[in-house]
Amino acid sequence: MAKNQRHLTMVANWKMHKTGAEATAFLARLRELGAVKAGGCFVVVAAPFPALTAAVEAARGMDVAIAGQNLHWESEGAFTGEVSGAMLAAAGCTHVIVGHSERRHLFGETDEMVHKKVRAALAAGLTPIVCVGETEQQRAENETELILRYQFERAFWGMSAEDLRRCVLAYEPVWAIGTGNTATPAIAEGAHRFLRRCATDIFGAEAAAGFTILYGGSIKPGNLRALLEQPDVDGGLVGGASLDADAFATLVRAGNSN
Ligand code: PGA
Repeated sequence: MAKNQRHLTMVANWKMHKTGAEATAFLARLRELGAVKAGGCFVVVAAPFPALTAAVEAARGMDVAIAGQNLHWESEGAFTGEVSGAMLAAAGCTHVIVGHSERRHLFGETDEMVHKKVRAALAAGLTPIVCVGETEQQRAENETELILRYQFERAFWGMSAEDLRRCVLAYEPVWAIGTGNTATPAIAEGAHRFLRRCATDIFGAEAAAGFTILYGGSIKPGNLRALLEQPDVDGGLVGGASLDADAFATLVRAGNSN
């Protein structure tokens, strides 16, 4: 499957930003700007838990999917502060971010937990947006491919090609997140091509060719186009530049025209 047969996707990851009222205002502005188009790039907004219901309501009638930013792997239980995939689905989410580097590095998420969360998301009927990426030190020590293969294999361990088809991957080099140091298009393409090869090795060429791999890490209106021109970069996972509706609309338009 060629790149133009994969669905180009733009994800806003708000992290710990925006109340319900702010989510509503953002989506109203995005609607007004008219950047989201049927047949254009697929748009997902990952809002904090308390803003999800407002975001789902505000996105009604727009081609915008709403995502959680995390989930627990159990469906319910005594897990104070946690949220299940079924709860996200009931709130109207269709997607959930899993294994973001901030979860891994600030909150101790292991590859085993990421794996259980991917399974839980699929069981709840959600599309997991699974994040992988090397640290600056790992890249300096030439360990990038080792780390990416390990994270990929652990996240999707024991799954079928059919499961993979229901997942999205995001390559997010830790050194590029929130730092302004975007990966060059060549670095991003190298990692994406490698991750697609990892998918081919386990799930076969057909599943790998249809697998959406997003890039994330300091995406801005000025650097997105060059990234999207790469044959294995299928869209973006955007943090800082997704907080402003006008800036995010610019990114969505770049996705529409790619
Ligand atoms: P950033 O964040 O765009 O602010 O670098 C990306 C992400 O963490 O998903």
